[in-house]
Amino acid sequence: MSAPAIDLARIPRHVAVIMDGNGRWAKARGLPRILGHQAGVKTVRTVCETARELGVGVLTLYAFSVENWKRPEEETSALMGLLNEYLRRELLTMMKNEIRLGVVGDLAGLPEDVQKQLNSVIEETRGNNKMLLNLALNYGGRAEIVQAVQKIAREVKAGRLNPEQIDEETINHSLYTAGQPDPDLLIRTSGEMRVSNFLLWQISYAEIYITQKLWPDFTRDDLIKAIAEYQKRDRRFGASE
Ligand code: FPP
Repeated sequence: MSAPAIDLARIPRHVAVIMDGNGRWAKARGLPRILGHQAGVKTVRTVCETARELGVGVLTLYAFSVENWKRPEEETSALMGLLNEYLRRELLTMMKNEIRLGVVGDLAGLPEDVQKQLNSVIEETRGNNKMLLNLALNYGGRAEIVQAVQKIAREVKAGRLNPEQIDEETINHSLYTAGQPDPDLLIRTSGEMRVSNFLLWQISYAEIYITQKLWPDFTRDDLIKAIAEYQKRDRRFGASE
């Protein structure tokens, strides 16, 4: 099927993606899981390029959760290796396409070489403003809220903030996504009906789109299809008609 028509004037400002199914993709082919992740990196490139071309402002990809450390060391270190290689290889493209890199998650818990590579790409791309690519790394939605509460508590303790002044904005500003719009569209591949601790606060009003496609099989047209579906939804943000 070719891509459906979409209204370029109503592109979601922020698209968040739970990239799932790399392991199943590899298993179905009798391949080691890491080759599924490798194939997944190609999809990362395609989705990033397509989102940028369509005018998405922020693209957040769930690349590594705090829970993913429970996987065998062989898999976690291979994932970190893929990430390093991706960052090394993508810098030129990011510069050409004016994409800024950001990280959501606890950077300090990542291997030092990955931290260095991330910080250098974040720094190099700082001035780019066509799209923000957020990689969720060592990320957990609950952990993010915990660190936000700690930050706010420190402000209260220091006498800089009155508890009565705490509102939704205070929390927004204390999250990894401070200053960014909330996701309008959350895409999850491989058919699972779960949120998996991803952007728990920020997805309050996001439209959720779940496809059976495994992440390595997800194409440019699939992203366009998800956006077309999003554009059909009637977003009320809790109000009546
Ligand atoms: C989920 O598939 C995918 C991940 C945990 C990692 C996603 C990583 C990539 C796409 C590659 C590295 C990322 C970047 C940005 C370079 P799964 O392993 O849980 O699949 P399964 O549920 O079928 O086992």
